[in-house]
Amino acid sequence: MGNNLSLWCIILSLLIILMYSAKEMKGLGYIYDHLHQPEHSNIAKESHQTPSHVDHIDPSLNIFFRVDDFKVGKTLPIWFASKDNPSTGSPPLLSREEADAIPFSTKQLPYLLDLFSFPKDSEQAKAMETTLKQCEKKPMKGETKSCLTSLESMLDFVQSVFGSHTHFKVLTPKFDKGRIIPLQNYTISEEPKAIYAPRILGCHRMPYPYAVFVCHTQESDNRLFEFSLVGENGDKIKAPGICHMDTSGWDSDHIAFRLIKVKPRESPVCHVIPEDNLVWLPLH
Ligand SMILES: *[C@@H]1O[C@H](CO)[C@@H](O)[C@H](O)[C@H]1NC(C)=O
Repeated sequence: MGNNLSLWCIILSLLIILMYSAKEMKGLGYIYDHLHQPEHSNIAKESHQTPSHVDHIDPSLNIFFRVDDFKVGKTLPIWFASKDNPSTGSPPLLSREEADAIPFSTKQLPYLLDLFSFPKDSEQAKAMETTLKQCEKKPMKGETKSCLTSLESMLDFVQSVFGSHTHFKVLTPKFDKGRIIPLQNYTISEEPKAIYAPRILGCHRMPYPYAVFVCHTQESDNRLFEFSLVGENGDKIKAPGICHMDTSGWDSDHIAFRLIKVKPRESPVCHVIPEDNLVWLPLH
């Protein structure tokens, strides 16, 4: 009885937080989708919605580069979702106890939509369904992946990949001040710094009413860098970037190949790590 009561208290207080924050889900970028879902073409999706603007590309796709773009003085448009932008505000991070009290599966979607009071056809409902489906999808060949709904479960996953006695570190973009521009041109101001990492584990924020990360690691030739960037408005950012040197296993329709105009599956593809995404690496 006592247990049940405290569970209800958790769910109730959560609902209040989540209803408040859930309105902001719509603007979240699907970074993991961009990176790992070749068949999920945003150009196609957007042109379907607005047939008169076939060339319109989701601005949050401005994260991909060629390996030879990595040099001092190079200017690139980059999307860093901004916390100061109300449409991309971060949803709350739950404790494991809170997260475990809420079902997390497509089978429970009708119940979840009811719980969060989202109409069946709303943007939020679609985003939740996409995230749940993504989380239930089997990993690609050579990939280890898991969707995590709390910091505790994320740490467990990191330890299961790196070993429980391994020390590790986390990289995220660092901004010198609050920022309000999600997309602008940045110039590489210093030689990109190569970071030695025998294994890289990426965690990408998924659109959901509370914090959900899909974390994954892949055995292939990936190179990690740190960039120093200066925006047109003077913003300074230090951001991690990854180059996937071997893209032979990628779908030839992967949107990155089209965006950076390289031969599918033959050229390396690089991307920055936007805000709300983490890169874990073991220390040695
Ligand atoms: C970046 O600069 C190019 C060239 O000047 C310009 O065409 C483009 O619109 C700029 N992009 C952004 C996001 O400001």
